Amino acid sequence: MKQDTLFAKPQPLVDFTFDDAVADVFPDMIRRSVPGYETVISLLGGLAKLYAEDDSNIYDLGCSLGAATLSIYSQTRTKNLKHICIDNSEAMARRCQSRLVRHMPEANLKVLCENIEDTNIENASVVVINFTLQFLSIKSRLALLKKVYQGLRPNGILILSEKLLFSDEQQNQLQIDWHHSFKRANGYSDMEVSQKRKALENVLIPDTFEQHLSRLKQAGFEQSYQWFQAFNFASLVAIKS
Ligand SMILES: C[S@@+](CC[C@H](N)C(=O)[O-])C[C@H]1O[C@@H](n2cnc3c(N)ncnc32)[C@H](O)[C@@H]1O
Repeated sequence: MKQDTLFAKPQPLVDFTFDDAVADVFPDMIRRSVPGYETVISLLGGLAKLYAEDDSNIYDLGCSLGAATLSIYSQTRTKNLKHICIDNSEAMARRCQSRLVRHMPEANLKVLCENIEDTNIENASVVVINFTLQFLSIKSRLALLKKVYQGLRPNGILILSEKLLFSDEQQNQLQIDWHHSFKRANGYSDMEVSQKRKALENVLIPDTFEQHLSRLKQAGFEQSYQWFQAFNFASLVAIKS
């Protein structure tokens, strides 16, 4: 695993993008930056196993290098599923395609480089949006969730993981401090934490948990439950009745 040192030296402020340099170090970057990432990846595969239905599609929207798809595939191998992975970063989609073909050669797999806002979702039993909705403009988030709801089969699920904002300012600041402390414990310097935070400021716009619940309800989901949280990172399951 190549080590992430992208923000180790002082550099001009540029908005964060998922380019080749990020894709090269992504497994190390996300593991050291997102508390509980590996747990979420492993457990979402088990959740997907409960809902994945034969002859249905499994979508991984904002797939990066396909970690969620790999976890689901390894836990649902006996089912007849089509895995559809989408990312609008060419650097990510290219690496995802070769990685998944290598690790799941027998799978029915499609990796597409496109905006998830343009993706056609149909016959889905499981849709994963793992730490990606937060990169869409706030105004386009509801439309994506509505489309996911429409494309799910009855009893299908959406697994949605996000960085959270807290409406209580004191809690919000504490959660940010605890998260930054987690990053420093994982070897990132104060400069790396601070430069990355600034680079993400205009790019990753978190919602509160209440905003997520309300949006999921507006999209049609009657049942949405939180199943994971580590500091200001959480994951929900929304079930289509
Ligand atoms: C934090 S990463 C997601 C991590 C990944 N889901 C995982 O579990 O390893 C966010 C990904 O979403 C992609 N992305 C952001 N906005 C997107 C959009 N509108 N359409 C498609 N992909 C998008 C980025 O290129 C990036 O690869």
